[in-house]
Amino acid sequence: MKASDMGDDLEKILITEEEIKQRLAQMAAEIDRDYEGKEILLVGVLRGAIMVMADLARAISTPLEMDWMAVSSYGSGTKSSGVVRILKDLDSDLTGKHVLIVEDIIDSGLTLSWLKTNLASRGPVSVEIATLLRKPEAAKVDVDVKYVGFDIPNEFVIGYGLDYAEKYRNLPFVGTLAPHVYEAVSE
Ligand code: PRP
Repeated sequence: MKASDMGDDLEKILITEEEIKQRLAQMAAEIDRDYEGKEILLVGVLRGAIMVMADLARAISTPLEMDWMAVSSYGSGTKSSGVVRILKDLDSDLTGKHVLIVEDIIDSGLTLSWLKTNLASRGPVSVEIATLLRKPEAAKVDVDVKYVGFDIPNEFVIGYGLDYAEKYRNLPFVGTLAPHVYEAVSE
């Protein structure tokens, strides 16, 4: 999907495809340095993390396995409740593993805070987090995130895995949605 396919639904491109690629390569180099001589279990958090997982994993040289989790906050529209429910759990046993959680975005931080604690209780050697995006202004809890691609303003972002009503995940860049798109729905 291209920017032009969105017509005037796209407000602006925040991070280009090239900028994402370059930053993920830098993050992968850092990860390779930090995990030298080890093996990593990458844990992707569905569904937003699929693009980051696919591109970050391909840029990493360290031997790795990939597994997936799907989580959801309890109730609807209570994303920031911090009470998380597992929709799909990992297939892997974490005992003795170096776990690296891969996310598209950290918003309030509540999902990742919960997830990190949950995975840490399963006997891994280490649990760290890599996220493409983080919104510092939206943080409700402090989460220790080892690898951050970009700190971004507190705006509604779409693309590169991030959706609005399940659409636009397949944009190759991160952009902001024109307000008329979501204002039309909330009226
Ligand atoms: C997004 C993102 C994180 C979470 C971050 O997922 O992928 O998992 O929200 O928000 P928080 O920091 O406020 O907890 P979302 O619930 O939109 O699901 P999706 O990945 O399936 O789009």
